[in-house]
Amino acid sequence: MVQVKDDIIVWQTGNEVCQQDIELETVPLSQESAFVLWQKDIPEEYWSLTADEMKERIRIAREKLGSRLVVLGHHYQREDIIQFADFKGDSFRLSQWAAERDEAEFIVFCGVHFMAEAADILSKPHQKVLLPNMSAGCSMSDMANPDDVLYCWEQLDSVGLASTTTPVTYMNSTASLKALCGQNGGIVCTSTNAPPVLKWAYEQRPRVLFFPDQHLGRNTGIKLGIPLDEMVVWDPRQPLGGNTLEQLERSRIILWRGWCSVHTRFSVEQINQARAKYPDIKIVVHPECVMEVVQAADCNGSTEFIARTITDSPPGSKWAVGTEVNLVSRLARENPDKLVFCLDPVVCPCSTMYRIHPAYLCWVVENLAEGKIVNHLVVPEETARWAKIALDRMLEVR
Ligand code: 13P
Ligand code: SF4
Repeated sequence: MVQVKDDIIVWQTGNEVCQQDIELETVPLSQESAFVLWQKDIPEEYWSLTADEMKERIRIAREKLGSRLVVLGHHYQREDIIQFADFKGDSFRLSQWAAERDEAEFIVFCGVHFMAEAADILSKPHQKVLLPNMSAGCSMSDMANPDDVLYCWEQLDSVGLASTTTPVTYMNSTASLKALCGQNGGIVCTSTNAPPVLKWAYEQRPRVLFFPDQHLGRNTGIKLGIPLDEMVVWDPRQPLGGNTLEQLERSRIILWRGWCSVHTRFSVEQINQARAKYPDIKIVVHPECVMEVVQAADCNGSTEFIARTITDSPPGSKWAVGTEVNLVSRLARENPDKLVFCLDPVVCPCSTMYRIHPAYLCWVVENLAEGKIVNHLVVPEETARWAKIALDRMLEVR
């Protein structure tokens, strides 16, 4: 549903409401479908600025705003953006930042939609979260349609399994799914804390429903010693997810059929080639990679783990990395005394992270400097209240 009130457009994606200012005549009614994240056109002049002009205009706007503004940047952001980040990190660190720091009135979040939502939920009421490009989503998050997950939960309930299952959502999901977890004794995890969060989930109930990333769920289940034959995949297009009741009853973890299009590109063959070329090479990958890749690597972890592991390694170390290429290229530049390269020889950027272009950042901060808030991301109160319960549980897990 799209509504226009004064110069604010409010529209629904799944169970969530987004808003931004807009001129009435440019409302595209086709955006009424769920899961379409939409960004209004920004003034043409921003696209004709050179990188240096943009940099200077962002600097001037930031100077005007001073400590009222903080810019957060996820590790996958391009250099043109990360240069402006006051704080960079993985999705866990960025959510911790939002939960703990209340000095800035405006948080400009250079990352994707679900990260900005989490920042809005965890930040204080006087803080406003702005996402420079509202269409910066995440294809994996979109694979878990809130209605489909709710239907899955209802099916589990109807066969008597919901009361013995803890719902666990990966941070890469809509706020309404975090709320579903909050309401049903569940929790959120990130790639930083998936093993302790899953342990917490098993302390509550004997089975876990994990969404949307089957690979992070499977890799974490294996770390906890759960055998593969006690894991099932839930395909939302099939009754009972394509499983028999017996399979569900004996499962310890039900994995939603979702994946990351960036991380599923990495293969064991690429690892073998890297090892053949550099026998002393180390392989580090993100746990969103498929199980075979994670098992063939030397280590795996969040984007922060990957950055720290390479930065802390001795000079002369060699690293082949299975994660998004903007981070890998930055690590290669920041560690000139080491060999660092992406496992995938064909560049694999996250196309949705890439939607945060400096022109949008410039537009957002210049508007703020003029006292105008654009691209303000607001999670509806009721959704935020339940989602915060699941996020707070995560932040408390050690
Ligand atoms: P991190 O939590 O490791 O930053 O990962 C987020 C993500 O989207 C990886 O694809
Ligand atoms: Fe989503 Fe994959 Fe991009 Fe991460 S890398 S934001 S999981 S599409």
